[in-house]
Amino acid sequence: MRAMEKYPYVITVSSEKGGVGKTTLAINLAIFLKALDEDLPVSIFSFDNHFTIDKMFSIKGQKLTGSVADLLLETPGRDLLHTGQYGVNYIPSSNSLPELRGSFKGPMVLARLLAMADIPGILIVDTRPDLDIMTQNALFAADRVLVPIKDMASMDNCRNIFELFDKRGLDRKSLTLVPCLIDERIKFDGMFKDQKTLLKAFAINRGYRCSDTFISKSPKVESLNTNPEGKIYPILTHGRGTDVFSQFSSLADLTLQECRETTEPRALLFDKWQKEEDQRKKEAYFGRLTGLKSECLVCGRELSQDSQIAYYCESSDSATCGYIEADCFTSFLVSAIFRIGRELPAEDPTRLMIHQTARQSVFVLTPGEGEAPDTVDFHRFDLEGNPLLKKTYPLNLAPERDELSGMVEGTLGGYEGQLRDAFLMVHPVNGENPASILVEDNYREMMKLKRRIAEQIYV
Ligand SMILES: Nc1ncnc2c1ncn2[C@@H]1O[C@H](COP(=O)(O)OP(=O)(O)O)[C@@H](O)[C@H]1O
Ligand SMILES: [Mg+2]
Repeated sequence: MRAMEKYPYVITVSSEKGGVGKTTLAINLAIFLKALDEDLPVSIFSFDNHFTIDKMFSIKGQKLTGSVADLLLETPGRDLLHTGQYGVNYIPSSNSLPELRGSFKGPMVLARLLAMADIPGILIVDTRPDLDIMTQNALFAADRVLVPIKDMASMDNCRNIFELFDKRGLDRKSLTLVPCLIDERIKFDGMFKDQKTLLKAFAINRGYRCSDTFISKSPKVESLNTNPEGKIYPILTHGRGTDVFSQFSSLADLTLQECRETTEPRALLFDKWQKEEDQRKKEAYFGRLTGLKSECLVCGRELSQDSQIAYYCESSDSATCGYIEADCFTSFLVSAIFRIGRELPAEDPTRLMIHQTARQSVFVLTPGEGEAPDTVDFHRFDLEGNPLLKKTYPLNLAPERDELSGMVEGTLGGYEGQLRDAFLMVHPVNGENPASILVEDNYREMMKLKRRIAEQIYV
């Protein structure tokens, strides 16, 4: 349990069906867990907007600061916990979650937030009756998922949760079906003598794990949720002596045992993984920095603090990586590509236009192969990788080679004057901070662009 001082053991209660007893299960499990072990912090929040959790746990006169919405907006979870009734901590519900749904990029957001939430002990997450992106996040972050089923229809429904787990590479073993709202008066003849036996048999037959403990349908529980006082009462305090009381006790017992056997909850593993990822990204970045040529790839002069770096240049085999200065590249375009036979002064409108266009373009040089070994293709793409221009030039690798051939030779030259089987890409960079193009996310975007371009060149 040491790890759980900082990382919660997360239990998600989920089912696509409404009215199967999710919220009742989530709330009462929290209270029973707390009763089992006073020293164990137990927290709860809900992605639903019915405020049942708030009604159950809030203390009269308590000042509320923040809600689940703030958790999703990156407020550390610990700062949002409110000490509630029965010693259970809760994060107040919110009805502005639907608006936040768009900002959920993928299923790992909640896992990341819980990895840095600093919530100790056990955290229970109640979900809405669907498999939207919020629920998917709650499933991904969970050490244990409890799926209440009350009949065959809700069991059929949980197939989607299992499929989602398989798709994400998550372990099916962390899913447990819990038969809820079981009417014990219903008896069958034959092998499956009652509802719970029948449901369990079907669950096992489908390869689902089903808890031995089930929750009976009880008029008592119904009256605790719906009564003239408009209150919600816990089974722990108001249901003593009933079947559901002992069923919840045993479910809480099992849950606590499982939690204690978990030395590394997912929140901790996720945190570790993320730190490793950060480290990996940092190393990859420094690796790219170290691989950079120290001179401008057009003019060959050493780059210094004062150089006006404007382009990053990389061969498709990554053997050549470096920068090009702004003026150098414009001059190169003027003379080697547009073949304007004279120097254009800095303020010349044609030169300015070539410069401006170049800043919005990606250029690629591909030496000809096969039938045209003595040519080089010059391509211009826009920054999304749409082709704009292609021109073919003669390639001359003799000692008195021209500027374009010199550039090709300098960046794509290989063994004994042969060119490598590669192309060269020139991509504009931010002159203030050229190396930012080498930072993980930016670099990955550029590599995507490179692939897009390569697909078009080699059709
Ligand atoms: N064990 C139970 N016995 C009787 N009624 C129950 C039981 N569990 C839940 N209910 C009732 O069933 C309804 C749905 O329960 P709820 O927990 O809100 O389900 P969900 O969160 O899945 O929609 C509620 O009216 C609740 O009072
Ligand atoms: Mg509910």
